[in-house]
Amino acid sequence: MKKVLVVYYSQTGQLESVLKSFTSKLGDEEIKVDMRPIQLKVKYPFPWPFYTFFDEFPEAVQMDGCEIEELKELEEDYALIILGYTVWYMSPSIPITAFMQSQQAKKIFKNKPVVTVVACRDMWVLAQEKVKVLLNSLDSRVIDHVALTDQSGSVLSLVTLPMWMLTGNKKFFSALPQAGITQENIDNCTRFGERLNSSLKQDKEKESGAMLKNLAAVSVNAKLIATEKIANRSFLVWTQLIKWSGKKYSFGRKVTITIYFVFLVLLLLTVVPLNILARKILNIFQKEKLQAMEEKYELPSGK
Ligand SMILES: Cc1cc2nc3c(=O)[nH]c(=O)nc-3n(C[C@H](O)[C@H](O)[C@H](O)COP(=O)(O)O)c2cc1C
Repeated sequence: MKKVLVVYYSQTGQLESVLKSFTSKLGDEEIKVDMRPIQLKVKYPFPWPFYTFFDEFPEAVQMDGCEIEELKELEEDYALIILGYTVWYMSPSIPITAFMQSQQAKKIFKNKPVVTVVACRDMWVLAQEKVKVLLNSLDSRVIDHVALTDQSGSVLSLVTLPMWMLTGNKKFFSALPQAGITQENIDNCTRFGERLNSSLKQDKEKESGAMLKNLAAVSVNAKLIATEKIANRSFLVWTQLIKWSGKKYSFGRKVTITIYFVFLVLLLLTVVPLNILARKILNIFQKEKLQAMEEKYELPSGK
């Protein structure tokens, strides 16, 4: 019997539904699936109060982690680990960072093949790079990657996702698409578990090649990568400013968060549309470079 550990953090349950669908055809009499949600010592609120939502920004980007419970009665001989994470401010969510930095992760991940599964709004490329660094430091290797993103697309989800997080309503604006991943996309994740089931029975997790090829596991939009990189650089400056302005949830932080929020809105209304236009023109001359970039970030599983 082979054992697969599925470790994840899901606040609203969206990622959990993805993983339940993913694993529904993975387990059988030969393969045991061990689903383990990460539990927090102090839960985050949902819906998020405005300032609490932004107060997590510095800790997420600077990967400070938070207090989590230890996972009880884990086995030692997992053949494969599925790491399910969401993206917070273009970084892995704080609970996932905390878990990856724990002593327990050091033991569990050592020399283990890992399939990473991300379910987020839209931008996961830099977060996945950060997860890969964490996994490398634990002596494990990513053998496959699956990414699911919101149905409203990269621009509209800039509005629909925060409104879902701040109000709990996935369809806050009736004229806009619903926030989150479509049920159809979630249901279709069974294909990954089915493939892993047959691959594990052939010991393919011990080989170096990906197991989830030709299943549309990921689709990178290279045009967004430059935006992610620019935003990430500005995140480093703003997160430091917010940290300098006070302790978590302090009045000082609220002041800096307010300034940052106004800056963000102005950026969205001015620089972002101009940037989209400039990139559209520039991309006409960079088709090959963009394609190469997409292929690089779509590794190991590919489209
Ligand atoms: C504090 C916070 C920050 C987030 N930042 C991002 C982000 O930068 N990029 C992104 O694609 N999604 C972002 N999201 C959305 C999450 O990745 C995810 O889609 C959402 O939280 C639902 O996941 P869950 O309920 O399964 O945990 C953020 C969510 C939260 C709560």
